[in-house]
Amino acid sequence: MSLGLLSAAYIIAGVLFVFALAGLSKQESARRGNKFGMVGMAIALVATILTIDPHAYVYILIAMVIGALIGTRVALKVEMTGMPELIASLHSLVGLAAVIVGYNTFIHILALGNMASLDSMLKIELTEIYLGVFIGGVTFTGSIVAFGKLRGIITSKALCLPGRNIMNLTAIILVLAGMVLFVIMGGNLIILAVMTVISFLLGLHLVAAIGGADMPVVISMLNSYSGWAAAAAGFMLSNDLLIITGALVGSSGAILSYIMCQAMNRSFISVILGGFGGTKQCAVDIDYGEYREMSIDEVAELLKNSKSIVITPGYGMAVAQAQYPVADITRKLRERGINVRFGIHPVAGRLPGHMNVLLAEAKVPYDIVLEMDEINEDFPDTDVVLVIGANDTVNPSAKEDPNSPIAGMPVLEVWKAQTVINFKRSMNPGYAGVQNPLFFKENSYMCFGDAKATVEEILKKI
Ligand code: TAP
Repeated sequence: MSLGLLSAAYIIAGVLFVFALAGLSKQESARRGNKFGMVGMAIALVATILTIDPHAYVYILIAMVIGALIGTRVALKVEMTGMPELIASLHSLVGLAAVIVGYNTFIHILALGNMASLDSMLKIELTEIYLGVFIGGVTFTGSIVAFGKLRGIITSKALCLPGRNIMNLTAIILVLAGMVLFVIMGGNLIILAVMTVISFLLGLHLVAAIGGADMPVVISMLNSYSGWAAAAAGFMLSNDLLIITGALVGSSGAILSYIMCQAMNRSFISVILGGFGGTKQCAVDIDYGEYREMSIDEVAELLKNSKSIVITPGYGMAVAQAQYPVADITRKLRERGINVRFGIHPVAGRLPGHMNVLLAEAKVPYDIVLEMDEINEDFPDTDVVLVIGANDTVNPSAKEDPNSPIAGMPVLEVWKAQTVINFKRSMNPGYAGVQNPLFFKENSYMCFGDAKATVEEILKKI
């Protein structure tokens, strides 16, 4: 393929990726955005394959078939609740790829044997390799920890090692000093290997030190890192499209992380540096006293006699697939003239917009599904709040306890309603791993059991 044709194909693919991102920014145009991305990626793949030595086609074909088989199987199998884990595992592969490309490029330079002439081109190439391997290393292990935390293999509580800020800072200083040495020496495999180990450890520690409730920000941040790692690989491979694509992913991930930090009242710098500067992430267990329970009959009776009800769903509704009986109960109560609305926290569930998608699936009318900011003022005038499988997003300690790991995070202020009923299976904490004082408040009652089964039982009684 001629260079001109290749550049044209890359420009078209790059423009399609921009359209894809623009489309993905709105629910109505998201499908179209996805299609633009798919066409762009197909053009990019074909154009890139046509530039390489035809003898390598057979290897590429084998790799693509294996990749396509694994990708199709995983995509068909993954549940909505498993999406963030899948994304985290894919990010780790991008990071690993950047590390491998870095080593490959370095070995290639070594093989050329022109280290003596340390010209400026070589210095730039060495810097690219060093930075590419570093970003890739942090992304690789950071994403593995994120995967483990999302899957529940690793505790979602923040890891609080003594002197963790000093450790991170030392690692960064060592990496920077290593970079200067690496470039001055015209490349050195030992320095590169030591830095790779440091980057792996740093990635592990940065994400392990972030508490569960901040995980949405971590995911989008690792998304951003994976973009920068891909861009670095693009520089090393002198592939313009990879640079463009990496920069698009890197910057959109950074913007998303910033928006999420604002929504959750978190400091962007503190989150990207692994909870840097504070000790609030480290949870302490407190005894909140006794909780009260309410039976299914009592809940049904209470609902029938209410005038205004707010439902605040969370991750448990998604796990139980309770959105359908919840939609049915909403319909029934509305038919009785009761004002039923939903309050949606921006990070309820495990994906941005998770609850909105589930409720739309169950055909809950859009106009009664309100954002946190729209509903928070109405809780004092609400008779009953049904907390269905939500926990961190309704935790009052975010407002009331400055030492809580989730302090400062905006939450649904459900405790201001007359009565709150919490549907969950046990007294276990939510994703952030902190106990919820809401369950022990005087106007709050537990209704234990699987959310779907419980709501179906109540539905029968109404
Ligand atoms: P969580 O705080 O995760 O709490 C969910 C609750 O659902 C749990 O306490 C669990 O209690 C209950 N549950 C689980 N399965 C259930 C079932 N079958 N029936 C009834 N209850 C069930 O949920 P949330 O309030 O939605 O908060 C989301 C959390 O995830 C936040 O900390 C957020 O930062 C984090 N997060 C969010 C995202 C995004 S982007 N949304 C991504 C990653 C992490 P039991 O075990 O006692 O039943």
